[in-house]
Amino acid sequence: MDIHERPRRLRQTDGMRRLVRQVHLNSGNLILPVFVREGASQPIAIGSMPGVFQHTQSSLKAAVNEAASAGVGSVMIFGVPSHKDANGDAACAHDSILADAIRWAKEETGDSLPIIADLCLDEFTTHGHCGVLDANGNVDNDATLAQYQRMALTLADAGADILGLSGMMDGQVGAVRKALDAQGKIDTVLLAYAAKYASAFYGPFRDAVESTLEGDRKSYQQDPGNVNEAIREVRLDVAEGADIVMVKPGLPYLDVITRVSAEVDVPVAAYVVSGESSMIEAAAAAGMLDRERAILETLTSVKRAGADIIATYWATEVAHLLNR
Ligand code: PBG
Repeated sequence: MDIHERPRRLRQTDGMRRLVRQVHLNSGNLILPVFVREGASQPIAIGSMPGVFQHTQSSLKAAVNEAASAGVGSVMIFGVPSHKDANGDAACAHDSILADAIRWAKEETGDSLPIIADLCLDEFTTHGHCGVLDANGNVDNDATLAQYQRMALTLADAGADILGLSGMMDGQVGAVRKALDAQGKIDTVLLAYAAKYASAFYGPFRDAVESTLEGDRKSYQQDPGNVNEAIREVRLDVAEGADIVMVKPGLPYLDVITRVSAEVDVPVAAYVVSGESSMIEAAAAAGMLDRERAILETLTSVKRAGADIIATYWATEVAHLLNR
């Protein structure tokens, strides 16, 4: 046979494949999202998210310690309050479930593990939207920014190292940066969910936070058909002071991750969301695919697309696998 190039030569053994592998997962680049339920006396399993729980104070502390000792890079906290109202005022209270959870996490791991707090109103509003509503029932962008500013100060005071701005309001990064800086909180890092799509893959998350969403989020989250809009959102967020930008979801938006990472010089994160994980968990439970291989391949593809950082519910498990 007259074959000049034989790519298979580099695939012969595990050692050879490892030698030429370009993309490696690294536990330090993983973020573990966790849910903390106000008033829970024991961890509550989330039906649509196998293996994921709404934590109590003590199970949160255990999860944070396990993540840290496995080498996970960060924990991102979502609070699930027992009372909601129209404006999500509880989100701005110094004893909110989210502020308490930040303090509980920081008590465990101190400065060794950056703690991210989700900065959004949807868990705290009766209508489930990410902002406050105007008289016509539409999400009021600028009134929401004032609420985000109050919430940001609460979360920063509680000790959050990073605020995850997930609401997709125009001007949210600039407004929060301004409020923090005015209080001298110049070191609080802003992770902007810059390109967040209106996605069906958030379905299980809505169970996790007991969302009572009426309608949909299409007037503020991005249309799945667009990619230029992602570049615009990212450009604006970086100009307003975003320290890290995020693309969300992950797997259905690999092209967006690639475009965004080519565009910016800040770290790029991607969020492998609830529906993406549950899809794999369900298929694996039905015996349709090899769970561990599917998880590692999924996360590798997100990193290969250009994500520096990956938020995933499998963070601690994958960190343990990588340590093996
Ligand atoms: C909203 C928020 C959502 C997720 C993270 N933050 C839900 C939404 O936008 O509807 C989804 C995360 C996931 O599905 O894992 N604050």
